[in-house]
Amino acid sequence: VILTQDELKKIAAYKAVDFVQSGMVLGLGTGSTAKHAVDRIADLLHQGKLKNIIGIPTSKKTHQQALSLGIPLSDLDSHPNVDLAIDGADEVDSDLNLVKGRGGSLLREKMIESACKKFVVIVDESKLVPHIGANGAMPVEVVPFCWKFTQERLQEMFGYADCLAKLRRNGDSESGEPFVTDNGNYIVDLFFKKDIGDLKAASDAILRLAGVVEHGMFLGMATTVIVAGEFGVTMKNK
Ligand code: A5P
Repeated sequence: VILTQDELKKIAAYKAVDFVQSGMVLGLGTGSTAKHAVDRIADLLHQGKLKNIIGIPTSKKTHQQALSLGIPLSDLDSHPNVDLAIDGADEVDSDLNLVKGRGGSLLREKMIESACKKFVVIVDESKLVPHIGANGAMPVEVVPFCWKFTQERLQEMFGYADCLAKLRRNGDSESGEPFVTDNGNYIVDLFFKKDIGDLKAASDAILRLAGVVEHGMFLGMATTVIVAGEFGVTMKNK
């Protein structure tokens, strides 16, 4: 049997939900993989196999999903100690560094996933990369105020030869409205043409730029990565 990509995502998600215990405060991830985990948590709650779960959603979309499934919800203000977060990723390297935010939810994801004791990442094998930034956009959330100025500074930081900085827009057209995050900000996607190199240095430099709110490199945050592939499920721990 050949499994579809969505079936692989579901396998990884269900495996991660095995880590969930009654009474936990849970970070609920965003995206097509994390969606399966939220569905599964709701099923186990309704079957009575899990009790007293409190979900902390990482996006408005996940908030809506969890609400409609009847998962009790809260936020970091009321529950600053998150036991476990389960979320997908856009890229995973061999050191378990991630790129996240191609769905646009990087800021809330980073706030919640930085605050949790255990962060389990769930992916199908297509997300594995030799180095992060190798396989598409690395999103940077910026304030809308003079976004062109910020985009230009990001472009200069990495150079035209190595990187392209591009405002994310709704739809495919160059004239589309800017994509707006759950926090009312914009996203500048960085497309690297070569290895980023020192990830910590790149992260620090991006975060030092006024106008930048957060970026989608999640360095050293994942405690476990569950990868579902054609030949089974593998689990890597930090
Ligand atoms: C949301 O902004 C992202 O960080 C997602 O976690 C990431 O894009 C993974 O999504 P999929 O599971 O849909 O690939």
